[in-house]
Amino acid sequence: MLLGTQRINGNGALEIGGCDTVELARQFGTPLYVLDEDYFRETCRNYRAAFEARYPEVGISFSGKAFMTSAVCRIVGQEGLALDVSSGGELHTGLRAGFPPERILLHGSNKSRAELEMALEAGVGRVGLDHLREVDLLQELAAGRGQRVDVLLRVAPGVQADTHTHIQTWKADTKFGFAIVGGAEKEAVAKELGAPNLRLCGIHCHIGSQILDLEPFREAAEMMVDFAAELRDELGHTVAELDLGGGLGVRYLPEDDPPSLEEYAETVTGAVRGRCEKHGLPLPRLLQEPGRSLVGEAGMTLYTVGVVKELPGVRTYVSVDGGMSDNPRPALYGARYDAIVANKAGEPRERSVAVSGKHCETDTLIADLKAPQIEPGDILAVQTTGAYNYSMASNYNRLPRPAVVLVADGGADLIVERETLDDIVRLDRVPARLQGDWPSRSAAE
Ligand SMILES: Cc1ncc(COP(=O)(O)O)c(C=O)c1O
Repeated sequence: MLLGTQRINGNGALEIGGCDTVELARQFGTPLYVLDEDYFRETCRNYRAAFEARYPEVGISFSGKAFMTSAVCRIVGQEGLALDVSSGGELHTGLRAGFPPERILLHGSNKSRAELEMALEAGVGRVGLDHLREVDLLQELAAGRGQRVDVLLRVAPGVQADTHTHIQTWKADTKFGFAIVGGAEKEAVAKELGAPNLRLCGIHCHIGSQILDLEPFREAAEMMVDFAAELRDELGHTVAELDLGGGLGVRYLPEDDPPSLEEYAETVTGAVRGRCEKHGLPLPRLLQEPGRSLVGEAGMTLYTVGVVKELPGVRTYVSVDGGMSDNPRPALYGARYDAIVANKAGEPRERSVAVSGKHCETDTLIADLKAPQIEPGDILAVQTTGAYNYSMASNYNRLPRPAVVLVADGGADLIVERETLDDIVRLDRVPARLQGDWPSRSAAE
């Protein structure tokens, strides 16, 4: 599976953005996140084109939680996308990158007072509200500052999306948003409408992530328009914006077959149009918040192979120099990945190996990879790591987080530096009472 600008060059090595991945590994070290700029930009454009060709007023917002760095913010901003953030840290990153605040939308299922204040201070374009308490809090803060703030109400439409339970957000039984059952959602709308410093612009939902079937998207779009019709009929409120979240799946494995952006846009816009006609509603502005489907396939991670452990008749374990700290998804969700031995990319994949990380856990990255003979020192390129890898990375086992390079036209630019060992201890503090001399012998001597 070769994605975006990936190809196999004359040396039989994997190339991305015109750069030899073996050379990238040598120059920047491993583990290394690599982002294919052209493929990422092209996907941003294709997203916009697919929706703009089918619907009068569309806003595509990059969901920063998928892969947020200052350079990534610059790219999505240049491509005319908005930015959705879900914490003070993501908001700070966007603002520091110079992202226009009016094109930023703040989400989050438990936004703190400080985060809401930060959003008001910055003048973000929209704040998504998940709870009645947030409605009160934002009203209080906005009133205190003499501001009026545009808000979206998050609802859980109850549409079943077939994906891992940790990334399902559609159910009524979820911490996210107001369930469209029982009337709490209408109470929230009424409350927002009655809050003098809030302007309810629209309704929002996000049914889950890595969804490979179009049906749940169609159903969710229809249910949201039905809900908009109820708001008009029961509260006399016209929904101006309909934000249907993100969730479209990507190719992790060669056999994955996600819907094309065209098919996806056709389904969503068709459902909204059809239902608006049925209810006699004007077409709302349609918002989309893709993360994974914008950036997932544009990213790869390079590792260096260390120990290769052959258990004859059982399995071959190939250990790489990263693992669950740079990609927790296999451990969290049983997520599956494909990989290419970058320096042997042209060789037949005749063996079966398990790829493990270096952590003090059984951190299997790929349980069953078809690969050529792998030896220590080989470079392994794991595909489709652009979403929820760097953004979910940790320092488990006190491993420094990898660098990120942006590649295009044969050039590679560092967009996030590799953490150093000193970064690992930078925030540690030792109280005075723990300082002083060590005992003369330790237990290990
Ligand atoms: C509110 C919201 N919008 C958008 C997204 C992006 O989803 P995805 O990366 O699957 O497109 C998420 C992901 O969790 C989300 O919670």
